Amino acid sequence: MVRHPVLRNGLPIETCAFDRDEDNDTLHLGAYTDKKLIGVLTLLPNASDVQLRGMAVLPEMQKLGIGYQLILEAEKRVVHMGISLLWMNARLIAVPFYERCGYQKQGGKFRLPYGGDHYKMIKQLCA
Ligand SMILES: CC(C)(COP(=O)(O)OP(=O)(O)OC[C@H]1O[C@@H](n2cnc3c(N)ncnc32)[C@H](O)[C@@H]1OP(=O)(O)O)[C@@H](O)C(=O)NCCC(=O)NCCS
Repeated sequence: MVRHPVLRNGLPIETCAFDRDEDNDTLHLGAYTDKKLIGVLTLLPNASDVQLRGMAVLPEMQKLGIGYQLILEAEKRVVHMGISLLWMNARLIAVPFYERCGYQKQGGKFRLPYGGDHYKMIKQLCA
């Protein structure tokens, strides 16, 4: 619905599935307007950190504060899990957005199969 046009545009729908999508502890958050899904992210909890994946807002709804609201909700959920470290592999194009949300680059640039070059970005939350 949202991952495909935003993160895997033009690629087979199967490429939208992530390994841990169906795990019991995986949490999918969605932003809606008039019951239409317009923004998504996924939280993948590990023992002492949580990885955020699949952050996407429909193109026509970007830059309206929806991504920020999703991140705020994600951070609340992570703190509620008793975990204080949230991180993601950020596409270059999304780095300024995450910086605006208080995340910092850790280490150098690296390439992933989808989305080109990325930086790992982290934020220490108050758990
Ligand atoms: C990145 C993305 C999720 C951000 O969501 P969004 O709803 O557009 O972001 P918001 O409107 O909540 O922006 C929050 C702040 O970040 C800023 N921001 C957002 N995208 C930005 C960008 N590309 N460059 C600079 N600043 C940006 C906004 O201006 C806003 O700042 P403000 O509070 O000073 O106004 C969205 O643009 C998107 O889906 N992009 C394409 C997919 C993608 O790159 N996903 C991330 C994969 S790692």
